[in-house]
Amino acid sequence: MRFLITAGPTREYLDDVRFLTNASSGRMGYALARAALASGYQVTLVSGPVAIAPPDGCDFVPVRTTQELLEACERVWPECAGVIGAAAVCDYRPKIRATGKMKKTGGPLLLELVETPDVLAALGRQKENQFVVGFALESQDARENALRKLRGKRCDAIVLNAPTAIDADENTIELIDRHGVTAGEWSGSKTDIADRLIAWISQNLIGPASDDL
Ligand code: C5P
Repeated sequence: MRFLITAGPTREYLDDVRFLTNASSGRMGYALARAALASGYQVTLVSGPVAIAPPDGCDFVPVRTTQELLEACERVWPECAGVIGAAAVCDYRPKIRATGKMKKTGGPLLLELVETPDVLAALGRQKENQFVVGFALESQDARENALRKLRGKRCDAIVLNAPTAIDADENTIELIDRHGVTAGEWSGSKTDIADRLIAWISQNLIGPASDDL
């Protein structure tokens, strides 16, 4: 049984050398990949650029942009039992990507941004007996926004955390199930939280780990 895990930031290029991104370290997603492997699942880890090495034994697909993340995930999605979306995806990209390196003009530069595709929502729309677990990083109206994402992306559960999670070793999360009910409130290292989340998914969203799916 294979888990699809997204991790790290995406990049959205202004030109060939400059991009928009965020400070995601990939630690949460990589810890989830390690925990899933340790529980006997196969793992495809699709990751934006990070400084850490992928765990041994996973199928690793490095990507840079949100569009690449979407294409990589859609390719493997039919073979997967479910997805955990831990990637910190850029919501916007520059409308135009210049070739080469943009020159200074001596005046202000206005950037027009357009929305990127929502990878998790796309997988949620295509799901067939597959689980979808999302992350919601919220700074205000946290639970309300997390519930909106849970429903909008057809998630089976959503992990609510705060901006302090970005680039940190530790995390504090609330796990919310598909009915909007709190299924766990955990604090600790991202490794501990990953272990607990994989155990919860095993018990609540799928049967015991097996090779025959
Ligand atoms: O950015 P947002 O708060 O909507 O992210 C919620 C969930 O959706 C996360 O699991 C994130 O990985 C995923 N997501 C995605 N593609 C996007 C935006 C978010 O897969 N374009």
